[in-house]
Amino acid sequence: MDPVRLARRGPVAILTLDRSEALNALDTATLRALAARIAEVGADASVRAAVVTGAGRAFAAGADIGEMRGFTPEQAEAFSRLGHETFAALEALAIPTVAAVGGYALGGGCELACACDWIYASDTARFGQPEVALGVIPGFGGTTRLVRRVGVAWAKEIVLTGERIDAETAQRIGLVNRIFPHDELVDRAVAAGEAIAAKGPLAVARAKRVIQEGQGIDPRAANALEQTAFGLSFATRDREEGMAAFVEKREPKFEGR
Ligand code: CAA
Repeated sequence: MDPVRLARRGPVAILTLDRSEALNALDTATLRALAARIAEVGADASVRAAVVTGAGRAFAAGADIGEMRGFTPEQAEAFSRLGHETFAALEALAIPTVAAVGGYALGGGCELACACDWIYASDTARFGQPEVALGVIPGFGGTTRLVRRVGVAWAKEIVLTGERIDAETAQRIGLVNRIFPHDELVDRAVAAGEAIAAKGPLAVARAKRVIQEGQGIDPRAANALEQTAFGLSFATRDREEGMAAFVEKREPKFEGR
C-alpha cells in the first residue's frame, strides 16, 4: 500500500502519512512517496491549499530507526539529503500548507511539520527531537527550521534534552498556531484551506513567497522586496476584481490572473 495518501476536499489537498503500524516513521519509500505526492499537488492548479497529516495515533514518530540502523555515514548523509529535498519541495509549494498534528511528531515528524507554513495541533500532540537519545543529531531540519520557528533557546532545549513537549507548550513557544479537539483537527485545517481558496490565488502565492524570501535577509532588502511585489500585484485582474467587489459590496470572483 502507498505510504502517503493524497485526497481532495474541494480546493484542498490532504496528504496523509499512512504507515500507522510504524507510527508513520519516515523511511526512504515514504519520503519518495511524499515527494511524488508533493509534485502532484504542485502540478494541479485547482489545488489551493494542502493539509499534511498522519493516520492513526501519530503524525510521524521520526525517521525510520530500523532502516537507519545499518547506514554508513555516506548513506546517512544521502538519507538526510533526501529528507531535506523532500521538505524543501513542500516548503516551496506556491500554495499554503498546514500541518495537522495529532499524537507524536518526533524527530523527522516534527521537522516535517516545521516544513509546512504553520501547524495546527490536537490536544494529543507531542513534539520532540529525540535524536540525541539515539546518539545522532536531527537530520531533516531540526537545527534549522525549528530554530527559526521557536528561537535558539527553545530549539536548543528541545534538541539537546530530547524531551517531548505537549501541545500547549508548543503553542506557547510559537511552534503551534492553534489547538483543536482531536476529532476536529483535520476539518479545522481543511476549513483554513477553504478560507484561503476564497481569496485571490496570485496574492496568496505572492504573499507567501515574499514572507519566505524575506526570512534571513537584511530587513531593508525584505522591505524592498515587499514594495516590488505589492506593486506587481496591481498588474493582476484579481486586484481589479477584489477592489471592485469591495466597492460594489459583493463577493469577488477571482480567476487567478
Ligand atoms: N522508526 C521505526 N519504527 C518506529 C519508530 C521510528 N522512528 N517509531 C515507532 N516505531 C514503531 C515501533 O518500533 C513499533 O513497531 P513494532 O510494533 O513492530 O514493535 C511501532 O512503531 C509502535 O511503536 P511503540 O510500540 O514504540 O509505541 P509506544 O506507544 O510504546 O511509543 C513512541 C511511541 C514514544 C513514539 C516510540 O515509538 C518512540 O520513541 N519512537 C521513536 C521516536 C524517535 O526516536 N524518533 C526520532 C527518530 S530519528 C530521526 O527522526 C532523525 C532525523 O531527524 C532525520
